[in-house]
Amino acid sequence: MGYSAGDEQKGAGLFKTRCAQCHTVGAGEPNKVGPNLHGIFGRKSGQAEGFSYTAANVNKGVTWDEETLFQYLENPKKYIPGTKMAFAGLKKEKDRSDLITYLKKSISWFIYVYTTDVDRIFALYHERSTTHHHYPTQ
Ligand code: HEC
Repeated sequence: MGYSAGDEQKGAGLFKTRCAQCHTVGAGEPNKVGPNLHGIFGRKSGQAEGFSYTAANVNKGVTWDEETLFQYLENPKKYIPGTKMAFAGLKKEKDRSDLITYLKKSISWFIYVYTTDVDRIFALYHERSTTHHHYPTQ
């Protein structure tokens, strides 16, 4: 059995109780004991900016997606021997699916839903619109 779309609300609760003491997910949020997880989907392991990973985490060289996270989170120390992530794992498949469902949503929308920093939202929006469209200059 692998990942299947789960319950986002339950996943949010799991993140809060099991991950949030060490990880943030919002864009531009700081690294804590663990790296900020923004942008993790589609990215290789060990790439969060400004975070000092173990060689084990970097050298794993896996691309994070629903399936790799599903395997990793069952038993992080087995998946990445030598990791410093002090987390025993989520043994229930449903818990992992719920959590990953939450991660997928929160990573793209967290900033808009939870932040009250209007300038930051505007800056991000502006950054996006100028990156993705090229207007002719006069
Ligand atoms: C006690 C702190 C702690 C807890 C709790 C914890 N983590 Fe971590 N996590 C870390 C640390 C530290 C690393 C970096 C590991 C390394 O460099 O070996 C990490 C690494 C990761 C990575 C790899 C990131 C990358 O860029 O390669 C993911 C994904 C991750 N954690 C997700 C989670 C999730 C989801 C939870 C909750 C189910 C969780 N972690 C719980 C501390 C924690």
